Amino acid sequence: MLKLMLKPRNLIQPEDFSVEEIDQILSLSQNIIENPSKYSRVCEGKLLATLFYEPSTRTRLSFEAAMFDLGGNVLTVSDANSSSASKGESVADTAKTVSCYADIIAMRHPKEGAPLVASMNASIPVINAGDGGHNHPTQTLADLLTIKREMGRLDNLTVGFCGDLKFGRTVHSLITALRRYENIKFVLISPNELKLPTYVKESLKKDNFEIVETTDLEEVMPELDVLYMTRIQRERFDSFDEYERLKDSYVLTVDKMNAAKQTMRVLHPLPRVNEISVKVDDDPRAAYFRQALNGKYMRMALILKLLKEAEEGKQMPPLGDVRINELVCDNPRCISSTEQE
Ligand code: NCD
Repeated sequence: MLKLMLKPRNLIQPEDFSVEEIDQILSLSQNIIENPSKYSRVCEGKLLATLFYEPSTRTRLSFEAAMFDLGGNVLTVSDANSSSASKGESVADTAKTVSCYADIIAMRHPKEGAPLVASMNASIPVINAGDGGHNHPTQTLADLLTIKREMGRLDNLTVGFCGDLKFGRTVHSLITALRRYENIKFVLISPNELKLPTYVKESLKKDNFEIVETTDLEEVMPELDVLYMTRIQRERFDSFDEYERLKDSYVLTVDKMNAAKQTMRVLHPLPRVNEISVKVDDDPRAAYFRQALNGKYMRMALILKLLKEAEEGKQMPPLGDVRINELVCDNPRCISSTEQE
């Protein structure tokens, strides 16, 4: 797989956009929220391909709703078994093929790095809609938009992350994005078995961020400005018994909410299993369904940005000669373990 060409801009990981670009996307999202009719035909004649090889409700449907609300259209693969992936087609070949039919791709894949491989082979922009336990940058943009709208700021915040910090890709991406804002304190609440991966924690330590690690949600509740709840990620466990032992580690209840600040907000990327009692939904501090709606507006802004830049010929820096098997890593969930040279 020899590459020596320029490629359109993609969104594979949160750092692909500068802080200024993220600000622009959040402002554009806000503008779309306030003037939806202004944007209702801007993508006429354009096609979004949603390639989802893992289950999804919000991410796929919000991408598709976003494209329809922009006046565009959608091609979708919502089940790996209904696509040629089930016949053994590589991600690279799928990306080359879909580039013949669509203008932009949103891809979710169980293998870590799959959207990156797709972006290296597609001639149209590729958006990572979640790759294994790795990254989920569009959820991060929805999270940032929600924090901005609910709290009025993206700096000077104590943010608690609770649940499965090991496999939760939304956690990894949001932490990576928040590192670029001023005076963020990270409170990491998880069972010992599901702590944040060292590579994410080390990057925080290197930048001298204040981190608190604890197993006790109640103890830290009063100091949080934002509580980011997550489900225990059953599908990423090697052992079902281990999942059974850990699955009820945290349940946010009305009682626990009593100890939180009145200005605190609860976010959750959803789906919820049992980690937030449904009774908490009536608390105005529960922002997770507003967060799901924000996800649609932010995806409208993102699609617009990437399509506009592709039209203007804006490109990623040249990749140079990249051989995928030079990137092979020892992670069995990495896409480099299955793509051929
Ligand atoms: C998240 C995901 O897929 O990583 N969901 C989502 O996209 N909104 C969170 C999860 O599955 O737990």
